[in-house]
Amino acid sequence: MKKFYLTTPVYYVNDVPHLGHAYTTVAADTLIRYKRLAGYDAFFLTGTDEHGNKILQAAKKNNLAPIEMADKMSANFKKLWEKLYISYNDFIRTTQTRHTKVVKKIFLKLYEKGDIYKGEYEGWYCISCESFWLESQLKEGKFCPDCGREVEKIKEESYFFKLSRYQKPLLSYFKAHPNFVLPSTRMNEVVEFVKRGLKDLSVTRLNLKWGIPCPIDGKHTIYVWVDALINYISALGYLEDNFRFSKFWPADVQLVGKDILKFHAIIWPALLMALGLELPKMVFAHGWWKIKGEKMSKSKKNVVDPLKLAEGYGTDCLRYFLLREVPFGEDGNFSYSSFIKRINSDLSNDLGNLLNRVLPLVIRYCGGKVPSPSKEEKEDKNLREKIDDLFPSLEKSMETLSFSDALSKIWEIVRVGNLYIDRCAPWQLAKREEKSRLNTVLYNSLEVLRILSILLSPFIPKSAEKMWAQLGLQEDLKLQSLEKAKIWGQLPPGVLVQKGPPLFPRIKE
Ligand code: MSP
Repeated sequence: MKKFYLTTPVYYVNDVPHLGHAYTTVAADTLIRYKRLAGYDAFFLTGTDEHGNKILQAAKKNNLAPIEMADKMSANFKKLWEKLYISYNDFIRTTQTRHTKVVKKIFLKLYEKGDIYKGEYEGWYCISCESFWLESQLKEGKFCPDCGREVEKIKEESYFFKLSRYQKPLLSYFKAHPNFVLPSTRMNEVVEFVKRGLKDLSVTRLNLKWGIPCPIDGKHTIYVWVDALINYISALGYLEDNFRFSKFWPADVQLVGKDILKFHAIIWPALLMALGLELPKMVFAHGWWKIKGEKMSKSKKNVVDPLKLAEGYGTDCLRYFLLREVPFGEDGNFSYSSFIKRINSDLSNDLGNLLNRVLPLVIRYCGGKVPSPSKEEKEDKNLREKIDDLFPSLEKSMETLSFSDALSKIWEIVRVGNLYIDRCAPWQLAKREEKSRLNTVLYNSLEVLRILSILLSPFIPKSAEKMWAQLGLQEDLKLQSLEKAKIWGQLPPGVLVQKGPPLFPRIKE
């Protein structure tokens, strides 16, 4: 069985999750569900990033030990992922021993290899982003170019990773693997950045109490970003369980937001090169959700709570909106009116309409039983061929993580399904008592719904299951495959359909 390993970033545990966080994870979940459907042994890792100053400060404020604070906050993410139907295989916390011991081993390994050395760091640091900045990168007035908060000047002894040593190897790798970073505009940015030269990276902080102790010098803790990046391999048991590690590494897709691309497309590959490990096959950087043109983030106090959205409108509506509204890779503006418009037009009208037309007709004219089709006519062949033709482009869209494109192709099936019913007008066939033609048309319409349930299951998993159950199908939808969606005529005649309440009630604007 072919394997597929997918990761999201580990989320900063001191933040309450917002819509931006939910975006990376919902996209990852959709991709992994699709890969499972396509027959892969697919492994999906997510987790929380729990070290660093911010969590220490938050713990003090709340009169808790840092680990208690981290426990509490990490649970917020798990709760949200459950609500959003996130089917991760592993949830790693960077405070877990399985992680910290690997980080220490890696540090030692790189030190012994001569890739880490002791020096002095002098420069600017943003506590909030846990990022080092050059003077030339700061916003006027010494503010962090990322979050806008004030940065501080630090001068301290530090251990450095020889990042500069990897400039050339990285550039050759990028040249040989032009799709290493997608979308390609982001690849170009990374290449340009590396061409300008790489400085060695400070990888320890002095006297920072909440971090992984540096194994060769007790006064230091390991820089949170290096600590955090290693989660992608510590979770697989790197240096601990070679069988499991080599089964899944290298990652097939590492999904990140564009704000943390450089860490994933420069520092992370350089660390992997230093360790003599293969690089991930693809790092995909998605865009930001914005509110009135500004990035949604806690520091700007403009965040939307995904839990409330899911509770208020339904998880699948939220998932659908996030994936359909904006091409993956680009930025999008969130507004309630565009959310409601999208749900009403695509889910309530188009898809809901198809389902709500077909099932009552089957109940009315066939006693609720899936009828047996007979001779195929031109209209039927057309329908079948149009759907067949959509598969290759749908698969291509999923390969490039173009979720919005993929959904628009699936909606083409919804459209041709609705059109087929309009054209064949089963109610008139019933009037004219053309029973065998009526049966064929209703059977084909149900087949469209069967195929849609399978294709939609990665995107809107619970609604797809409900659609599936309404078709009277007993087998678990999770056991279906992309192949079964491609083969026409899998719906067994004689099964009783089950009409339920509307899946996507119209939302009042
Ligand atoms: N802890 C680091 C990642 C370490 S990975 C080794 C981190 N965490 S984060 O919680 O700040 O961000 C996690 C993910 O959420 C990132 O992929 C980031 O791009 C994404 N988003 C955070 N805000 C976002 C938006 N407003 N819009 C879309 N995604 C954004 O960075």
